[in-house]
Amino acid sequence: MAGNPLISTIQYVAGTRSSFLLSEIIRYLDAPMTVDEIYRAIAPELPRLGLAATRRGGDVEINRLLPGDGGRGRTSTFLEKRELPPVLATAIEEYITKKVGKPWDDPVTAERLRKAITAQKDDYWKPLHKRSLRYTKGYSVLGYLAYHFPVYFMQTEHLLLRLFEEGFLKKSMTILDAGTGPGVVPLAIADFFSRLDGVKASVYAIEQSEEHIEAFLSLRDAFVPRGGPVSVKPPKQADIRDPLPAGLPERFDLIVFSNVLGELADRSGDPRAGIVGRFAERLSPDGAILIIEPADEINSTRMRTLAAGLEPAGLVVHSPCPLFRGTACKAPRCWSFATAPAIRPTRLMETLARCDEPYRYINTDIKYSYAVLRRAAIPRDGLRLSSAAKFLQLSKLHLHVGKRVNTMVAKMSGELGDAKTRLFKVCDGTAKAPVYAVLPAFHKTAENEALLSAGYGTVLELRGVLVRYNRAHDAWNLLVNRNTEVREPDRHGE
Ligand SMILES: C[S@@+](CC[C@H](N)C(=O)[O-])C[C@H]1O[C@@H](n2cnc3c(N)ncnc32)[C@H](O)[C@@H]1O
Repeated sequence: MAGNPLISTIQYVAGTRSSFLLSEIIRYLDAPMTVDEIYRAIAPELPRLGLAATRRGGDVEINRLLPGDGGRGRTSTFLEKRELPPVLATAIEEYITKKVGKPWDDPVTAERLRKAITAQKDDYWKPLHKRSLRYTKGYSVLGYLAYHFPVYFMQTEHLLLRLFEEGFLKKSMTILDAGTGPGVVPLAIADFFSRLDGVKASVYAIEQSEEHIEAFLSLRDAFVPRGGPVSVKPPKQADIRDPLPAGLPERFDLIVFSNVLGELADRSGDPRAGIVGRFAERLSPDGAILIIEPADEINSTRMRTLAAGLEPAGLVVHSPCPLFRGTACKAPRCWSFATAPAIRPTRLMETLARCDEPYRYINTDIKYSYAVLRRAAIPRDGLRLSSAAKFLQLSKLHLHVGKRVNTMVAKMSGELGDAKTRLFKVCDGTAKAPVYAVLPAFHKTAENEALLSAGYGTVLELRGVLVRYNRAHDAWNLLVNRNTEVREPDRHGE
């Protein structure tokens, strides 16, 4: 049934709302259909889509059933531990021991790992064309395993939970990870899916570095059970700037670019949009592309511009950007990233930290920029909240300086301020300069507390915020005080 526009529409809307009415779908259909006709056409497909239907008077309410609801609790328990799975931590130590022919915690090995980590970090801050490390030498990959792997692995688990909650995970999935390195994403998928009920996946990967592929296979064999719900295939050694290598499936439900596109320099210009566009030709109609980059301003902003500019490739940003106004993002210089609680350092990190500058070798903070893209299956309009019309667009803030206004925004950052002044980036897709919601701690009340507790990407109504322009930063501040009400919109009461 893939490719049926009605099913694609239902899936699209279900990906943005956990519950909606079939009557809401009617206006997006080319040929008019009644609620009953829609219901009859989609009913046989609902279990496959992870959706359930309930009659509501003359209408039908569709609710998202997460695959393996029981798995949600197991995932939360796992994430709350904030710890790389011990089997994987041990597999990394053993791989290092095998590669260097000395114990992983031997002082000489540890010192070489420190050097590799320092060199990688120094390289990272160089301009793209001056970067030298291409993961061709053994120690650069071992340094990656010691320093980056644990955080990126746990970060991927958080992102998979987001995809799960947004309805992107299906009972049977074909996934491709481009620039897989030592297999961070495939291994996290294998781990994440192992906690869900009744889901399975085949995960393919592309990687150019032989050293990374060797590490990938070793960790996979130690960590992913044979015959389990996830089959992790050996990576294809290839350059993602070239046509896709032979031997890969024709269609993927999920294509991931994790910390790779930002690394690509090309003499003839920026190759990233062309690469994503080419991979997107192999995306199933209801599939998603996940792009992940580090949270620093340069990488994050570049990724956001890339994602917003992929419409010519038939891709629209599904999350985390706000879609409730039904408009394409016009925001320049958008620096927005998600955060999650820091992980516990691994035993390997702690061993490396036994030196004069321990902080250099402990990498536990989770901060990442991501975009979920999907095919422009239905008009962007389909995601509009009609109630948004009652709120001031952020593009019109300049007409209301010094006044109190009501706006509808998505929270687009973690805490950017401090204990005295709480500060969050907010967006509605229309602003031409960055906008921040500012809450002085002494103005915090039960009525505005939702600004602090809402998760990244949550849509909020800000009722009664004072508009201020920050000339020094060409940015807008929306001052939340004790009279401001902050709450999530009531999507059914539109
Ligand atoms: C920073 S690592 C990211 C690895 C993994 N995706 C993660 O998130 O941890 C970047 C990886 O992309 C690979 N890579 C870089 N350019 C590539 C290219 N043009 N084709 C294939 N792989 C590439 C590198 O070899 C490296 O393994």
